Amino acid sequence: MKKIIIANWKMNLDLSKSMSLAVKYKKFGRKTEHELVICPSEFALKKVGEIISGHSIKLGAQNVFWQEDGSYTGEVSARSLEKLGCKYVLVGHSERRQNLNETDEMVNAKVLALLKTKLIPVICVGETLAEKKAKKGKAVLARQIRKALEDVKLGKQQLIIAYEPIWAIGTGQAIKPDQADEQHYYIYSLLERVFGKKKAQKNCRVIYGGSVDAHNGSKLLDLKYVDGLLIGGASLDFKKIAKIK
Ligand code: PGA
Repeated sequence: MKKIIIANWKMNLDLSKSMSLAVKYKKFGRKTEHELVICPSEFALKKVGEIISGHSIKLGAQNVFWQEDGSYTGEVSARSLEKLGCKYVLVGHSERRQNLNETDEMVNAKVLALLKTKLIPVICVGETLAEKKAKKGKAVLARQIRKALEDVKLGKQQLIIAYEPIWAIGTGQAIKPDQADEQHYYIYSLLERVFGKKKAQKNCRVIYGGSVDAHNGSKLLDLKYVDGLLIGGASLDFKKIAKIK
C-alpha cells in the first residue's frame, strides 16, 4: 500500500482560499509518489472536489455524524460525504474531543457509520503531556483504539489510525523518529489483537500527526511502521508540503 499524506486544513481557510490552495496542491499531487488527501472545511468540499476531480488527489472530510438522516441540526451524514466525493473522514480528532467533548463512544458510532459506506475512517488517537509523563500513554492508546473499534468487523474495508500525541499538535515539538516507530508498532500490535495479523497488515494503516513540517516530514514518512502523515499547520503552505518526499 502507498504511504499517505493527509492535509487537515482545519477551520483556517474561507471558500476562496480553500479553492486557491487546492489548485496549488494539484501541482504537488502530480509529483508525489504518495497518496495525497485534502480535508477542507465542510462548506468547501464541493468546490475543492470539483478542482481536484480527475486528479490523483483525494478528498477527505474533517468530521461526520453517526446517524444516516433525521433531525440532527448542523450534522452531516456519511452518505452525504460519500456523494460529495469524499474518500476519507477524520474521526475523533483531539480538538473535537477537547472542545466538543467527543467521547470514545461517539467515535465508535462514527466509525461504524462510516464502515457501512465506502468511506475510510481516519481515527485520531493520542495521549496528553500529563498522561505521557505519568507513563500512561500506551494505556490511553489501548483504551481509545479498543473502544473506537468495538463491534467493528472488517471485510474488505480499510481503516487508518492516526497517532497524534496531543503534546505534539501545533506545538512545533514533533515526536522523535525512534519513539514514533515504537508507538506505531504498539498500535499495530493492538490492531492485530482486534482483527488478527493478516487483516491488521492488509486493511489497516497507522499514520502520524503532530508538528509535521518540511524538515521532519520525509524522515518520519520513511519509518518502517509509519504508513503516512496527518498534517495540520504545515499543510496550509503548499511549498512545505511539496518538500515532503
Ligand atoms: P499540526 O496538526 O500539524 O498543526 O501539529 C496536526 C493535526 O492536528 O492533525
